[in-house]
Amino acid sequence: MKTGIKILIVLMVLQGALLFAGGGQEEAVEVSGRHVEVEPGWELSWEFQGEEIVFAMAAPTTGWVSIGFNPSRMMSEAAYVLAYVDSSGEVQIREDYGTGNTTHASDISLGGTQDVRVLSGKQEDGQTEITFALPLDSGDQFDVVFTPGETYVVLMAYGPDGSDNFTSRHRSRTSLEVQLIR
Ligand code: HEM
Repeated sequence: MKTGIKILIVLMVLQGALLFAGGGQEEAVEVSGRHVEVEPGWELSWEFQGEEIVFAMAAPTTGWVSIGFNPSRMMSEAAYVLAYVDSSGEVQIREDYGTGNTTHASDISLGGTQDVRVLSGKQEDGQTEITFALPLDSGDQFDVVFTPGETYVVLMAYGPDGSDNFTSRHRSRTSLEVQLIR
């Protein structure tokens, strides 16, 4: 075989391997049952309950914690829930939608609806944990429909300590594929 062809084949194989490795999903994330652990203390779990899905999200921060679903690219067009525990211990929560690769705005400001129901929230020892329920099908164009057993691209992120707002950029963020089993 001519050297040129050999090199071409090697390059094609390499490109395939790189594409696979660069698929955008993080390695070493533990998904078991209805629970995802990105790192100790940075977790997500869910439970289907009637016409709702209940999520518990936790992250090692005193600022905001968030999950997002099904972006088209980067942060674009994902359906987000962002929440934090404020200085009086109250949960502040907002449903957002990805308006660009690195931007998002509240569903309400975009003409949609806020459908999330807070169940609990606490901030303790530098850790924030929020539980909330979302309708399986809110009818809002800025939300996703949740179907048991379906696989979603889930974005997880949290803000720096003290980021009691919906706008400070993340301290950490990741993207993974999760099958939302019942
Ligand atoms: C609160 C305000 C936010 C700001 C200002 C912001 C800003 C940005 C910026 C500048 C980038 C590109 C640089 C980088 O990779 O770090 C980015 C990427 C990213 N953000 Fe955000 N973000 C925000 C909220 C969120 C939220 C709530 C999530 C998920 C729940 C999220 C998930 C991601 C992911 C997964 C990426 C990487 C996308 C990719 O490279 O494919 N972000 N963000």
